[in-house]
Amino acid sequence: MDDFRGRLTKDGIRIHNQEDFAGMHKAGALTARILDDIAAMIVPGVTTGAIDAEIERMVNDAGATSATIGYKGYQHASCISINHVVCHGIPGEKVVKSGDILNVDVTVIVDGWFGDSSRMYVAGPLSRKAERLIQVTHDALMKGIEAVKPGNTFGDIGHAIQSYAEGHRMSVVRDFCGHGLGQVFHAPPNVLHYGRAGTGPVLEEGMFFTIEPMVNLGRPETKVLADDWTAVTRDKSLSAQFEHSIGVTVDGFEIFTLSPAGKFHPTWG
Ligand code: MF3
Ligand code: CO
Ligand code: CO
Repeated sequence: MDDFRGRLTKDGIRIHNQEDFAGMHKAGALTARILDDIAAMIVPGVTTGAIDAEIERMVNDAGATSATIGYKGYQHASCISINHVVCHGIPGEKVVKSGDILNVDVTVIVDGWFGDSSRMYVAGPLSRKAERLIQVTHDALMKGIEAVKPGNTFGDIGHAIQSYAEGHRMSVVRDFCGHGLGQVFHAPPNVLHYGRAGTGPVLEEGMFFTIEPMVNLGRPETKVLADDWTAVTRDKSLSAQFEHSIGVTVDGFEIFTLSPAGKFHPTWG
């Protein structure tokens, strides 16, 4: 693999080497640890701004950099998306209520490498339908990850996610996708969370990208609010998302953003 250091495929996807995997492993580990450590503070009454401030403090304490502060004018260390917010919720004065479901998405830069991950959290007791949505979204991400190995295609990943979610009578958001990353935040390819098996670029050892499906209980359509960031479901149905940063290995994948404490799914406790 070292022979191909820095090579781009014909689709413009960078092929990384073993040293690059080590860089991603470190960035992913910090991302995951931050997402583990904020779990305890996500209780009814906390504001999304307080959660974000804690995330920013942890990034700085680790000697790392937030990738989102200053990104296209965004000013926060995380996106926090509650209930029918699909993604890119802006932290602020909003108070978390009992029964809310939240996605917290954190991207850090460690020694030039990007770690990008998000998970669902729940404040207080969970409705059955919210519990099902979170479980299906998590499992859809994992089905997508299981399709990652050299020789498979990006369409195989999208197909695995879409067929799983739709098989549970839920819908996959089309308006946002995963992305290549590495020493940049967003690089080719667009990683679609729907599609046909066998289509799209072929996966090769050394590719780094995120998979981050958003799944809705209702229809897939979204709209962006007047703040130019917050994306919501048009039909106000509940939405969930999980995201991992992944590398393609010789015979499969490495998940860079695995939870050290096993807290990736909110049923940990
Ligand atoms: N972390 C998000 C992603 O998964 C991107 C957030 S960009 C921001 O790609 F500016 F909204 F923070
Ligand atoms: Co991402
Ligand atoms: Co993200």
